[in-house]
Amino acid sequence: MASHGIEIKGLYKIFGPRGRDYVDAVKAGLSKADLNEKHGHVLGLKNIDISMPAGGITVVMGLSGSGKSTLIRHINRLIEPTYGEVVYDGLDVCAMKESELREFRRHRTAMVFQKFALLPHRTVIENTVYGLDIQGVPRSESTKRGQYWIERVGLNGFENHYPNHLSGGMQQRVGLARALTNDADILLMDEAYSALDPLIRVDMQTVLLDIQAELKKTVVFITHDLDEALRLGDKIAILRDGEVIQQGTGQEIVLSPADDYITAFVKEVNRGRVIRAGTVMRPLEGPTDGLRLSSAMMLEAAAKEMCEQGQNRALVVDDAGVPVGILDLQTIVSAMVTPAATEHQQIAAE
Ligand SMILES: Nc1ncnc2c1ncn2[C@@H]1O[C@H](COP(=O)(O)OP(=O)(O)OP(=O)(O)O)[C@@H](O)[C@H]1O
Ligand SMILES: [Mg+2]
Repeated sequence: MASHGIEIKGLYKIFGPRGRDYVDAVKAGLSKADLNEKHGHVLGLKNIDISMPAGGITVVMGLSGSGKSTLIRHINRLIEPTYGEVVYDGLDVCAMKESELREFRRHRTAMVFQKFALLPHRTVIENTVYGLDIQGVPRSESTKRGQYWIERVGLNGFENHYPNHLSGGMQQRVGLARALTNDADILLMDEAYSALDPLIRVDMQTVLLDIQAELKKTVVFITHDLDEALRLGDKIAILRDGEVIQQGTGQEIVLSPADDYITAFVKEVNRGRVIRAGTVMRPLEGPTDGLRLSSAMMLEAAAKEMCEQGQNRALVVDDAGVPVGILDLQTIVSAMVTPAATEHQQIAAE
Protein backbone atom coordinates (compact mmCIF):
# COMPACT_ATOMS: atom_id res chain seq x y z
CA MET A 1 0.00 0.00 0.00
CA ALA A 2 1.47 3.37 -0.99
CA SER A 3 2.14 5.76 1.86
CA HIS A 4 0.50 9.16 2.01
CA GLY A 5 1.66 12.40 3.57
CA ILE A 6 0.53 13.46 7.04
CA GLU A 7 -0.96 16.93 7.34
CA ILE A 8 -0.96 18.38 10.82
CA LYS A 9 -3.21 21.42 10.85
CA GLY A 10 -3.64 23.97 13.63
CA LEU A 11 -3.02 21.36 16.34
CA TYR A 12 -3.18 22.36 20.01
CA LYS A 13 -2.67 20.21 23.10
CA ILE A 14 -3.34 21.67 26.50
CA PHE A 15 -2.88 19.14 29.32
CA GLY A 16 -5.34 19.46 32.20
CA PRO A 17 -9.02 18.86 32.93
CA ARG A 18 -10.33 21.90 31.04
CA GLY A 19 -7.81 22.22 28.21
CA ARG A 20 -10.41 23.29 25.64
CA ASP A 21 -11.40 26.29 27.73
CA TYR A 22 -7.95 27.78 27.28
CA VAL A 23 -7.50 27.35 23.52
CA ASP A 24 -8.78 30.83 22.73
CA ALA A 25 -6.61 32.40 25.41
CA VAL A 26 -3.54 30.57 24.08
CA LYS A 27 -4.47 31.65 20.54
CA ALA A 28 -4.65 35.20 21.84
CA GLY A 29 -1.16 34.94 23.28
CA LEU A 30 -1.37 33.38 26.78
CA SER A 31 2.13 32.00 27.38
CA LYS A 32 3.02 28.47 28.47
CA ALA A 33 4.37 29.85 31.77
CA ASP A 34 1.23 31.91 32.51
CA LEU A 35 -1.10 29.07 31.53
CA ASN A 36 0.74 26.90 34.01
CA GLU A 37 1.09 29.38 36.87
CA LYS A 38 -2.30 31.07 36.66
CA HIS A 39 -4.51 28.23 35.44
CA GLY A 40 -2.66 25.01 36.34
CA HIS A 41 -2.70 23.69 32.75
CA VAL A 42 0.30 22.66 30.63
CA LEU A 43 0.73 23.84 27.05
CA GLY A 44 1.95 20.76 25.15
CA LEU A 45 1.49 21.96 21.56
CA LYS A 46 0.52 25.29 20.07
CA ASN A 47 -0.79 25.83 16.56
CA ILE A 48 1.25 23.08 14.90
CA ASP A 49 1.15 23.11 11.10
CA ILE A 50 3.47 20.55 9.55
CA SER A 51 3.13 18.85 6.22
CA MET A 52 4.98 15.53 6.45
CA PRO A 53 5.84 14.30 2.95
CA ALA A 54 4.50 10.98 1.66
CA GLY A 55 7.24 8.36 1.45
CA GLY A 56 9.75 10.66 3.18
CA ILE A 57 11.37 10.94 6.59
CA THR A 58 10.24 13.91 8.68
CA VAL A 59 12.47 14.53 11.67
CA VAL A 60 11.13 16.37 14.71
CA MET A 61 13.79 18.01 16.89
CA GLY A 62 13.78 20.13 19.99
CA LEU A 63 15.03 20.27 23.56
CA SER A 64 13.57 18.13 26.31
CA GLY A 65 9.98 19.17 27.05
CA SER A 66 9.51 20.96 23.72
CA GLY A 67 6.60 18.68 22.74
CA LYS A 68 8.16 16.10 20.41
CA SER A 69 6.60 13.00 22.02
CA THR A 70 3.29 14.80 22.45
CA LEU A 71 3.30 15.54 18.73
CA ILE A 72 4.18 12.04 17.51
CA ARG A 73 1.57 10.50 19.82
CA HIS A 74 -1.12 12.59 18.16
CA ILE A 75 -0.42 10.88 14.86
CA ASN A 76 -1.86 7.59 16.14
CA ARG A 77 -3.92 9.43 18.74
CA LEU A 78 -2.31 7.90 21.78
CA ILE A 79 -2.90 11.46 22.99
CA GLU A 80 -6.27 13.14 22.41
CA PRO A 81 -5.89 16.52 20.74
CA THR A 82 -7.38 19.60 22.35
CA TYR A 83 -7.97 21.24 18.99
CA GLY A 84 -6.93 20.78 15.36
CA GLU A 85 -6.50 18.07 12.76
CA VAL A 86 -4.13 15.26 11.80
CA VAL A 87 -5.08 14.23 8.28
CA TYR A 88 -3.89 11.00 6.68
CA ASP A 89 -5.21 9.73 3.37
CA GLY A 90 -8.10 12.16 3.49
CA LEU A 91 -9.18 11.21 7.01
CA ASP A 92 -8.83 13.24 10.19
CA VAL A 93 -7.32 10.89 12.77
CA CYS A 94 -8.59 13.20 15.52
CA ALA A 95 -12.18 12.65 14.40
CA MET A 96 -12.07 8.86 13.93
CA LYS A 97 -14.49 6.67 15.82
CA GLU A 98 -13.09 4.03 18.17
CA SER A 99 -13.32 1.18 15.62
CA GLU A 100 -11.82 3.26 12.78
CA LEU A 101 -9.02 4.35 15.07
CA ARG A 102 -8.26 0.76 16.07
CA GLU A 103 -8.02 -0.23 12.39
CA PHE A 104 -5.86 2.80 11.62
CA ARG A 105 -3.46 2.07 14.46
CA ARG A 106 -3.16 -1.61 13.65
CA HIS A 107 -2.85 -1.47 9.91
CA ARG A 108 -1.50 1.95 9.00
CA THR A 109 0.97 2.75 11.82
CA ALA A 110 3.86 1.04 13.56
CA MET A 111 6.01 2.41 16.37
CA VAL A 112 9.64 1.92 17.30
CA PHE A 113 10.44 2.90 20.88
CA GLN A 114 13.59 4.18 22.57
CA LYS A 115 13.44 1.46 25.22
CA PHE A 116 12.73 -1.22 22.59
CA ALA A 117 9.59 -2.43 24.41
CA LEU A 118 10.28 -6.08 23.59
CA LEU A 119 8.48 -8.82 25.46
CA PRO A 120 11.13 -10.65 27.54
CA HIS A 121 9.45 -14.06 27.48
CA ARG A 122 9.13 -14.04 23.68
CA THR A 123 11.99 -14.94 21.37
CA VAL A 124 13.20 -12.66 18.59
CA ILE A 125 10.87 -14.20 16.01
CA GLU A 126 7.95 -14.25 18.45
CA ASN A 127 8.50 -10.56 19.22
CA THR A 128 8.75 -9.80 15.54
CA VAL A 129 5.39 -11.37 14.70
CA TYR A 130 3.66 -10.00 17.80
CA GLY A 131 1.59 -7.45 15.85
CA LEU A 132 0.50 -10.12 13.38
CA ASP A 133 -0.47 -12.46 16.26
CA ILE A 134 -2.78 -9.72 17.53
CA GLN A 135 -4.27 -9.33 14.08
CA GLY A 136 -4.94 -13.08 14.02
CA VAL A 137 -2.56 -13.85 11.15
CA PRO A 138 -1.67 -17.58 11.36
CA ARG A 139 1.90 -18.34 12.42
CA SER A 140 2.56 -20.24 9.17
CA GLU A 141 2.16 -16.90 7.37
CA SER A 142 3.50 -14.48 10.00
CA THR A 143 6.71 -16.44 10.57
CA LYS A 144 7.55 -16.15 6.87
CA ARG A 145 7.07 -12.40 6.94
CA GLY A 146 8.90 -12.03 10.25
CA GLN A 147 11.82 -14.12 9.07
CA TYR A 148 12.21 -11.90 5.99
CA TRP A 149 12.54 -8.75 8.12
CA ILE A 150 14.80 -10.44 10.67
CA GLU A 151 17.19 -11.10 7.82
CA ARG A 152 16.83 -7.59 6.41
CA VAL A 153 17.79 -5.96 9.72
CA GLY A 154 20.79 -8.28 10.07
CA LEU A 155 19.56 -10.70 12.77
CA ASN A 156 19.75 -13.91 10.82
CA GLY A 157 20.52 -16.79 13.20
CA PHE A 158 19.12 -15.00 16.27
CA GLU A 159 15.46 -15.94 15.71
CA ASN A 160 15.23 -18.13 18.79
CA HIS A 161 17.21 -15.93 21.18
CA TYR A 162 15.54 -14.01 23.98
CA PRO A 163 15.85 -10.19 24.05
CA ASN A 164 17.88 -10.05 27.27
CA HIS A 165 20.63 -12.08 25.58
CA LEU A 166 21.02 -9.39 22.91
CA SER A 167 22.94 -6.09 22.91
CA GLY A 168 21.02 -2.80 22.79
CA GLY A 169 21.71 -2.40 19.08
CA MET A 170 20.41 -5.89 18.35
CA GLN A 171 17.33 -5.35 20.48
CA GLN A 172 16.56 -2.24 18.48
CA ARG A 173 16.95 -4.26 15.28
CA VAL A 174 14.20 -6.50 16.65
CA GLY A 175 12.11 -3.39 17.36
CA LEU A 176 12.56 -2.29 13.76
CA ALA A 177 11.87 -5.78 12.36
CA ARG A 178 8.67 -5.93 14.42
CA ALA A 179 7.52 -2.57 13.09
CA LEU A 180 8.31 -3.52 9.48
CA THR A 181 6.64 -6.92 9.75
CA ASN A 182 3.38 -5.14 10.46
CA ASP A 183 3.65 -3.67 6.97
CA ALA A 184 2.16 -0.36 8.07
CA ASP A 185 2.61 2.65 5.83
CA ILE A 186 3.53 5.05 8.65
CA LEU A 187 6.54 4.39 10.86
CA LEU A 188 6.68 6.39 14.12
CA MET A 189 10.07 6.45 15.80
CA ASP A 190 10.34 8.37 19.10
CA GLU A 191 14.04 8.70 19.96
CA ALA A 192 14.39 5.15 18.66
CA TYR A 193 18.16 5.39 18.44
CA SER A 194 18.91 7.71 21.35
CA ALA A 195 19.91 4.92 23.75
CA LEU A 196 22.42 3.34 21.35
CA ASP A 197 26.20 3.79 21.28
CA PRO A 198 27.30 6.26 18.58
CA LEU A 199 28.71 3.70 16.11
CA ILE A 200 25.74 1.35 16.49
CA ARG A 201 23.47 4.34 16.08
CA VAL A 202 25.05 5.23 12.74
CA ASP A 203 24.68 1.56 11.65
CA MET A 204 21.00 1.68 12.53
CA GLN A 205 20.56 4.92 10.58
CA THR A 206 22.06 3.15 7.58
CA VAL A 207 19.69 0.19 8.03
CA LEU A 208 16.74 2.60 8.10
CA LEU A 209 17.92 4.56 5.04
CA ASP A 210 18.54 1.36 3.05
CA ILE A 211 15.12 -0.03 3.87
CA GLN A 212 13.45 3.34 3.32
CA ALA A 213 15.01 3.71 -0.14
CA GLU A 214 13.06 0.61 -1.11
CA LEU A 215 9.85 0.88 0.93
CA LYS A 216 9.26 4.65 0.93
CA LYS A 217 7.15 4.69 4.05
CA THR A 218 6.07 7.92 5.65
CA VAL A 219 8.43 8.04 8.62
CA VAL A 220 8.27 10.40 11.60
CA PHE A 221 11.55 10.28 13.47
CA ILE A 222 12.24 12.13 16.71
CA THR A 223 15.75 12.92 17.81
CA HIS A 224 17.82 15.34 19.89
CA ASP A 225 20.77 14.84 17.61
CA LEU A 226 21.28 17.26 14.73
CA ASP A 227 23.68 15.02 12.82
CA GLU A 228 21.09 12.26 12.94
CA ALA A 229 18.38 14.71 11.86
CA LEU A 230 20.43 15.94 8.92
CA ARG A 231 21.37 12.45 7.82
CA LEU A 232 17.85 11.03 7.97
CA GLY A 233 15.50 13.93 7.43
CA ASP A 234 13.99 14.78 4.07
CA LYS A 235 12.34 17.44 6.17
CA ILE A 236 13.11 18.72 9.66
CA ALA A 237 10.78 20.53 12.06
CA ILE A 238 12.21 22.17 15.17
CA LEU A 239 9.99 22.68 18.22
CA ARG A 240 10.38 24.95 21.22
CA ASP A 241 7.87 25.18 24.07
CA GLY A 242 5.29 23.36 21.97
CA GLU A 243 5.64 25.56 18.90
CA VAL A 244 7.26 24.97 15.53
CA ILE A 245 10.10 27.47 15.29
CA GLN A 246 11.33 26.40 11.87
CA GLN A 247 10.71 23.67 9.32
CA GLY A 248 12.41 22.86 6.04
CA THR A 249 15.20 20.78 4.57
CA GLY A 250 18.41 20.34 6.56
CA GLN A 251 20.16 22.65 4.16
CA GLU A 252 17.55 25.40 4.58
CA ILE A 253 17.79 25.21 8.36
CA VAL A 254 21.58 25.17 8.50
CA LEU A 255 21.96 28.00 6.00
CA SER A 256 19.15 30.22 7.28
CA PRO A 257 18.49 29.48 10.95
CA ALA A 258 15.30 31.31 11.94
CA ASP A 259 16.54 32.61 15.28
CA ASP A 260 19.20 32.29 18.00
CA TYR A 261 17.71 29.03 19.32
CA ILE A 262 18.18 27.35 15.94
CA THR A 263 21.52 29.03 15.37
CA ALA A 264 22.71 27.42 18.61
CA PHE A 265 21.48 24.03 17.34
CA VAL A 266 23.24 24.26 13.98
CA LYS A 267 26.46 25.97 15.08
CA GLU A 268 28.59 22.84 15.30
CA VAL A 269 27.28 21.08 12.24
CA ASN A 270 29.56 19.87 9.45
CA ARG A 271 28.31 22.19 6.71
CA GLY A 272 30.03 20.12 4.03
CA ARG A 273 27.53 17.33 4.67
CA VAL A 274 24.52 19.61 4.40
CA ILE A 275 25.19 22.18 1.67
CA ARG A 276 24.80 21.02 -1.90
CA ALA A 277 26.97 21.91 -4.88
CA GLY A 278 24.05 23.64 -6.61
CA THR A 279 23.61 26.03 -3.69
CA VAL A 280 27.07 27.62 -3.79
CA MET A 281 28.13 27.17 -7.44
CA ARG A 282 29.20 30.20 -9.47
CA PRO A 283 27.58 31.17 -12.78
CA LEU A 284 28.55 29.11 -15.79
CA GLU A 285 31.61 30.38 -17.64
CA GLY A 286 34.69 29.05 -19.43
CA PRO A 287 35.25 25.52 -20.78
CA THR A 288 32.48 22.94 -20.42
CA ASP A 289 34.68 19.85 -20.45
CA GLY A 290 36.38 18.23 -17.45
CA LEU A 291 34.95 16.85 -14.21
CA ARG A 292 31.15 16.96 -13.85
CA LEU A 293 29.34 16.83 -10.51
CA SER A 294 25.64 16.67 -9.72
CA SER A 295 24.13 19.86 -8.28
CA ALA A 296 22.61 17.69 -5.52
CA MET A 297 26.01 16.46 -4.35
CA MET A 298 27.08 17.52 -0.84
CA LEU A 299 30.14 19.76 -0.72
CA GLU A 300 32.23 17.31 1.29
CA ALA A 301 31.68 14.58 -1.32
CA ALA A 302 32.31 17.09 -4.13
CA ALA A 303 35.63 18.15 -2.58
CA LYS A 304 36.66 14.50 -2.16
CA GLU A 305 35.84 13.74 -5.78
CA MET A 306 37.74 16.80 -7.02
CA CYS A 307 40.82 15.94 -4.95
CA GLU A 308 40.77 12.32 -6.14
CA GLN A 309 40.55 13.49 -9.75
CA GLY A 310 43.27 16.12 -9.22
CA GLN A 311 40.90 18.95 -10.26
CA ASN A 312 40.27 22.24 -8.52
CA ARG A 313 37.40 23.17 -10.84
CA ALA A 314 34.30 21.16 -11.77
CA LEU A 315 31.22 21.66 -13.87
CA VAL A 316 27.95 21.38 -11.95
CA VAL A 317 25.16 19.63 -13.85
CA ASP A 318 21.41 19.35 -13.16
CA ASP A 319 19.33 16.14 -13.03
CA ALA A 320 19.28 15.98 -16.83
CA GLY A 321 23.08 16.33 -17.05
CA VAL A 322 22.92 19.90 -18.35
CA PRO A 323 25.73 22.20 -17.06
CA VAL A 324 24.33 24.84 -14.71
CA GLY A 325 27.38 26.26 -12.92
CA ILE A 326 30.99 26.07 -11.83
CA LEU A 327 32.38 24.87 -8.52
CA ASP A 328 35.96 25.35 -7.38
CA LEU A 329 37.72 24.21 -4.24
CA GLN A 330 38.03 27.77 -2.98
CA THR A 331 34.23 28.20 -3.07
CA ILE A 332 33.75 24.89 -1.29
CA VAL A 333 36.18 25.74 1.49
CA SER A 334 34.66 29.16 2.13
CA ALA A 335 31.11 27.75 2.16
CA MET A 336 32.20 25.10 4.67
CA VAL A 337 33.81 27.53 7.09
CA THR A 338 31.65 30.67 6.90
CA PRO A 339 27.92 31.26 6.74
CA ALA A 340 28.04 33.55 3.69
CA ALA A 341 25.28 36.12 3.23
CA THR A 342 24.92 35.16 -0.43
CA GLU A 343 23.79 31.66 0.55
CA HIS A 344 20.97 33.08 2.64
CA GLN A 345 19.80 35.06 -0.34
CA GLN A 346 20.06 32.07 -2.60
CA ILE A 347 18.08 29.83 -0.24
CA ALA A 348 15.45 32.51 0.23
CA ALA A 349 15.13 32.76 -3.55
CA GLU A 350 14.74 28.98 -4.11
N1 LIG B 1 0.33 13.76 30.51
C1 LIG B 1 0.84 14.99 30.68
N2 LIG B 1 0.29 15.84 31.58
C2 LIG B 1 0.76 17.08 31.75
N3 LIG B 1 1.79 17.60 31.06
C3 LIG B 1 2.39 16.80 30.14
C4 LIG B 1 1.96 15.45 29.91
N4 LIG B 1 2.74 14.91 28.95
C5 LIG B 1 3.63 15.86 28.60
N5 LIG B 1 3.42 17.01 29.32
C6 LIG B 1 4.15 18.27 29.18
O1 LIG B 1 4.12 18.66 27.82
C7 LIG B 1 5.35 19.24 27.43
C8 LIG B 1 5.94 18.46 26.27
O2 LIG B 1 6.35 17.16 26.71
P1 LIG B 1 6.94 16.04 25.74
O3 LIG B 1 7.08 14.80 26.53
O4 LIG B 1 6.12 16.00 24.51
O5 LIG B 1 8.37 16.65 25.40
P2 LIG B 1 9.58 15.99 24.57
O6 LIG B 1 9.99 17.04 23.60
O7 LIG B 1 9.18 14.67 24.05
O8 LIG B 1 10.70 15.86 25.68
P3 LIG B 1 11.87 14.73 25.84
O9 LIG B 1 12.94 15.15 24.91
O10 LIG B 1 12.28 14.88 27.26
O11 LIG B 1 11.28 13.39 25.52
C9 LIG B 1 6.22 19.25 28.67
O12 LIG B 1 6.07 20.52 29.29
C10 LIG B 1 5.62 18.15 29.52
O13 LIG B 1 5.86 18.39 30.89
MG1 LIG C 1 9.89 12.72 24.33
